[in-house]
Amino acid sequence: MASIHLGDDAPNFTADTTDGEIDFYDWKGDSWAMLFSHPADFTPVCTTELGRTAGLKSEFDKRGVKVLALSVDPVESHHGWAPDIEDVTGNALNFPIIADPDKKVSELYDMIHPGEGDTSTVRSVFVIGPDNKVRLSLTYPKSVGRNFDELLRVIDALQLTDRAPVATPADWTEGDKVIVSPQMSTDDAKQRFGDVEEVKPYLRWTPEPTG
Ligand code: BEZ
Repeated sequence: MASIHLGDDAPNFTADTTDGEIDFYDWKGDSWAMLFSHPADFTPVCTTELGRTAGLKSEFDKRGVKVLALSVDPVESHHGWAPDIEDVTGNALNFPIIADPDKKVSELYDMIHPGEGDTSTVRSVFVIGPDNKVRLSLTYPKSVGRNFDELLRVIDALQLTDRAPVATPADWTEGDKVIVSPQMSTDDAKQRFGDVEEVKPYLRWTPEPTG
C-alpha cells in the first residue's frame, strides 16, 4: 500500500457508516474534513477519544471541519458502543463512524500497522482541505490517546497560513505572533503587515494577521 503524502488528493471511497452509506467526496463537499481511525469499539482509550471529539463539535463547526471516524468493527458494533461513549464522557456521538470490516478504507489510507499488535487500525489522523488535498497526517500508536487541542491548533495554523503569507512558530496558538513567510521580502512584508520585526534576515515576526 502506497503511503499518502501531504499535498496528495485524499482518495475517495464509499463506506457504510453509523449515518448510512456515504461517498466521501459527496459527504465532505467543499468543507475541511478530519478523517481519523481508532483500533476498536468497546476499548478504553477510544471511548475517551470519541467522546472528546463529540464534545468539541462546536469547535470543529466553527472551523468548517466535518469529522469522520473509522474502525474495522461492523456498524452494529458502533451502534452498540455509542451509548457507552455518552455514558462515560457525557458527550453523545455527533459524527459518523465508518464500519470497515473488509478494511477497504483502512488499507486505502494505510491505517493498519501490523507491528502494532494486530490488523486493526492504529490512531491515524488525516486533515483534508476544501480542495480534497491532504494537509496533515499524524499516526499515533494504539496505546496513546491523541491530543484534540493539538488537532484544533494545527487546523487553525493551516487555515491561517492559507489566508496570509505567514508560518507559525513552535507551540503557536491563536493570537500569538507569527513568522513572515521566507518567500516574502522584508520590504513587501512591511507593506503588507506594517509591523515587522526582523530578528534574522530569515526570521521576521509580525502580529497574527486578522483579515
Ligand atoms: C484502547 O482504545 O484503549 C486501546 C485499543 C487497542 C489497543 C490498546 C488500547
